[in-house]
Amino acid sequence: MVLMERLKLETRDLHQAVEARVDVMRPDLTLPDYQRLLAQFLGIYRPLEARLQQVEPLRQLLPDLDARWKTHLIELDLDALGCSTTTPEAEVSPIPGLPQAGGALYVMEGATLGGAIIARHVAQHLHLYPHNGCAFFNNYGDRRGTMWKTLADRLNTLPEPDAAVAGARQTFTLFEHWLGR
Ligand code: HEM
Repeated sequence: MVLMERLKLETRDLHQAVEARVDVMRPDLTLPDYQRLLAQFLGIYRPLEARLQQVEPLRQLLPDLDARWKTHLIELDLDALGCSTTTPEAEVSPIPGLPQAGGALYVMEGATLGGAIIARHVAQHLHLYPHNGCAFFNNYGDRRGTMWKTLADRLNTLPEPDAAVAGARQTFTLFEHWLGR
């Protein structure tokens, strides 16, 4: 089985747990709810991306890595909504190697797939779009599918698939704990 299939199957339970923590798909979603969610995401993406930046071989694996950072998009949204970008941050241990980094990136990039659904909901209920507070969840726009496919092709070439799956599970667990605080 290729790594991407394993990642999907072997993290399905954790996706469900995380999705249940993201209480955003309610019709009575308020702006403060949404602002709180963005701040929570910032508190994970900022330290996680900082750790991923330290994994040098990730750049060889993914030549388009710099286009995939999202911390600045969350900051842009919080700015647009007049909120502070100073927020408590999750504690993230150094990432031991390339396979674990790939697993972490799988989770962070996968969040943009569900992000499309969240973006539609936020547009409908809060009238927020990429220019006025919903850049993060609209990330990649119509390039979403292509970006995911490119990532998948590259991740499938990773060595040590078990370590990649472990890295993805660890990252999902971090999201679950942080979003459930
Ligand atoms: C309300 C919140 C969420 C919803 C409704 C949601 C929904 C979805 C949906 C519908 C897909 C499949 C998309 C497709 O196949 O095109 C998906 C995939 C995925 N989501 Fe979420 N998601 C949510 C939050 C998250 C979060 C917070 C994360 C990460 C921490 C995440 C990680 C992933 C991953 C890794 C995949 C890829 C699964 C695969 O291997 O195909 N999701 N999500």
